[in-house]
Amino acid sequence: MPTLNEIRSTFLNYYSKQGHEVVASSPLVPRNDPTLMFVNSGMVQFKNLFTGLETRDYSRATSAQKCVRAGGKHNDLDNVGYTARHHTFFEMLGNFSFGDYFKKEAIPFAWELLTKEFDIPKDRLLVTVYHTDDEAAEIWKKVAGLSDDRIIRIPTNDNFWQMGPTGPCGPCTEIFFDHGDHIPGGPPGSPDEDGDRFIEIWNVVFMQNEQFEDGSMTELDMQSIDTGMGLERIGALLQGSHDNYDTDLFKTLIEASANATSVDPYGEQNVHHRVIADHLRSTSFLIADGVMPSNDGRGYVLRRIMRRAMRHAHLLGAKDPVMHQLVPTLVQLMGSAYPELGQAQMLIEETLKQEETRFKQTLDRGLKLLDDELDGLDEGAPLPGRAAFKLYDTYGFPLDLTQDALREKNRSVDTEGFDSAMAEQKAKARAAWTGSGEAADSTVWFDIAEEQGATDFLGYDTIVAEGQVAALVQNGNQVQTAALGEEVQIVLNQSPFYAESGGQVGDSGMIRSDTGTARVTSTRKVAGVFIHFANVTEGKIDAGTGAQLKVDSERRANIRANHSATHLLHEALRETLGTHVAQRGSLNADDRLRFDFSHSKAMTTEQLSKVAADVNAYIRQNTVVETRIMTPDDAREIGAQALFGEKYGDEVRVVSMGHANTGKGRDGMTYSIELCGGTHVRQTGDIGTFVLLGDSASSSGVRRIEALTGAAAFAHLEREASQLGAVAGALKAQPADVLERLKGLMDERKSLQNEVAQLRRELAMSGGSGPSAEAKQVGGVAFIAQVLNGVSGRDLPALIDEHKERLGSGAVLLIADTGGKVAVAAGVTKDLIGTVSAVDLVKAAVVELGGKGGGGRPDMAQGGAKDVTNSDAAISAAENVLGG
Ligand code: ALA
Repeated sequence: MPTLNEIRSTFLNYYSKQGHEVVASSPLVPRNDPTLMFVNSGMVQFKNLFTGLETRDYSRATSAQKCVRAGGKHNDLDNVGYTARHHTFFEMLGNFSFGDYFKKEAIPFAWELLTKEFDIPKDRLLVTVYHTDDEAAEIWKKVAGLSDDRIIRIPTNDNFWQMGPTGPCGPCTEIFFDHGDHIPGGPPGSPDEDGDRFIEIWNVVFMQNEQFEDGSMTELDMQSIDTGMGLERIGALLQGSHDNYDTDLFKTLIEASANATSVDPYGEQNVHHRVIADHLRSTSFLIADGVMPSNDGRGYVLRRIMRRAMRHAHLLGAKDPVMHQLVPTLVQLMGSAYPELGQAQMLIEETLKQEETRFKQTLDRGLKLLDDELDGLDEGAPLPGRAAFKLYDTYGFPLDLTQDALREKNRSVDTEGFDSAMAEQKAKARAAWTGSGEAADSTVWFDIAEEQGATDFLGYDTIVAEGQVAALVQNGNQVQTAALGEEVQIVLNQSPFYAESGGQVGDSGMIRSDTGTARVTSTRKVAGVFIHFANVTEGKIDAGTGAQLKVDSERRANIRANHSATHLLHEALRETLGTHVAQRGSLNADDRLRFDFSHSKAMTTEQLSKVAADVNAYIRQNTVVETRIMTPDDAREIGAQALFGEKYGDEVRVVSMGHANTGKGRDGMTYSIELCGGTHVRQTGDIGTFVLLGDSASSSGVRRIEALTGAAAFAHLEREASQLGAVAGALKAQPADVLERLKGLMDERKSLQNEVAQLRRELAMSGGSGPSAEAKQVGGVAFIAQVLNGVSGRDLPALIDEHKERLGSGAVLLIADTGGKVAVAAGVTKDLIGTVSAVDLVKAAVVELGGKGGGGRPDMAQGGAKDVTNSDAAISAAENVLGG
């Protein structure tokens, strides 16, 4: 009996031999479809190849595609566990032709694979065709020799396949397997077709039309093929069962669940094991593809599936969390076909364990409340909506979990009552919020939030995606269209654009629809709604249409590098300065980062270089940056840095990076762990280089560091190096010798300055201008008065001393024109102190020279003035003091 892994390989190998490119499954979160919550069939990743929008270097492909059908249009969640063939996760095997082969080849391929490779007896197979498709019926007759009663014509949409409301579509032919008359059920198209006897195993779609939003349908230029066969179904069939849960893979998972809970795998409790086995697959694959449990959008679908599984584990009597214990078995079974599963194993285990531990805390009390409510109700009466809402709001029971719990008791929920309780709560939240003093136009965002729900952020994993234009806003009002040249705020149902928060700036980029293009200059968010501030640069943008979204990638890469570097910087500061260091603010822009932190002193040069060296060492370590979701308490327990005074919700995103021998975290080996909603590099090496520009005071007790990373850091280093090169060139030295050379030049300069001063003094003593340096007798005192050029005020005292020495007894007045300013000094020999004061001489002279004041000692005084032109009058004034 072939295993599911072998069946998958047989399928892919068969089509590979027929010239098909084997294409890997795309991630579960669609990158190219704005309307789909999860990829739900094999053709999604090839959607644009059918319409000719995109071409690749192959025209035939085959794949095994991961699919999730839970939430949104195709929602199988309610039935899973209770039926033989419902799953939240399944694999779709498919072969595709993009304008290459068509019906005449696709039908024989399918027939040969089923009857030769899989060896299914021909007489157990029958097919359906679209009622007008004579050609397909004819081919079946010829290729398979099927009689007319085994080629059933179906006039309904069952045989016209459409991916969604728009897009490529076409008539299809479906292949059915007859499990035999011991099982109840009729052939397709008959009243009891829903029985288990005739099972559809393969859908072959003849893609030849395209459906548009306005309801019209056109013929495509190309005729293509899209097929889909559920691996679990064909697996059951080839393993001799009609129950998908009876296959090797599911049996192994069910037995693992039985082991973990010590409950018989195939007894009465089997349904719980089935739910757990199915949900383990969807939740693990979703987490591996970057979905994290949350209270919105895809994250909430994940949470609903997880919690549903956890309730069933609870029903099995499990005391401890179960789901995470089963992940190794799943990885063993499916890890080689889907390597992403093994790569994310730790994250999956941890996320499941966290969620289950947390949910367990309220599950018991919730179930008790549910029982109490039911006690008071009439037999068969639905659970009142407000009780279901309380279970949702207080105990974290998604509505479908409550419905699932009631299903066993044959009861339903008053969903209208639930919806109105929900609406009431939203209205209260809104009232509280509108009173909070936000900008006047912000009520429009709340309206949009209520109508459209929060924007689903895709930007942790991708910077390119498609989205629906959910609303357009101009001047605080919703509009239908924005014309060329206009500014507009665009709201999308999902977006890869990061909305400014937590110090990280919002993204910029392009939004392109069929009718036009808008340039997004910044992105912010209000009430969970992302607002893309944009200018229409081509055509126009209409509300309600699909659009291609592209974030400016280089700018985002720089922002990411700065944000991750900020985390490393924070930790390096704590290690260098002490654990009192706490974040007080930060900016993670594309061109730089800024980090404010509590610390009261300026950092020393050594501290700054240690911090910079540490950050760069962790960059070079190049370890993977890990993201997890946990409760704030758990996050604190593993040593995560949280913002002081910040309010956190029920769960937080935790970003870890760096490997340190004595670090934090569960392993005790993680360098940095922070609560953070921002976007980060994949590995620390992506930061490139870190350059610390300096530390300054931001406010009292708070320091600020500014730094650069990546290309900006390199450009800065280059600039500095080239400046140093220029300096070295000018100094005619090697850069390494510049400092030595500069010190030498400074010394040389100093001694030259001394020499010049000496020479000036000598020059001054030997002449000077104005009245002669010869002494004349004034009032009985020998007096020298001189006006000097090219001598500075600092030189005057030494000159005065020299004159005094030469005179032996007398007084001296020197006036120095220092270019724009005038310095005045006077001296009196010791023997005359008491007779004449140098201070009086200076004061008298200074007044005449347009200054005032002057002072010093009786034997030596100095003053400053402005204008040297009156020097003669100044000298006369001094002579007057001497009594001349
Ligand atoms: N796309 C087709 C389906 O999902 C094959 O059934």
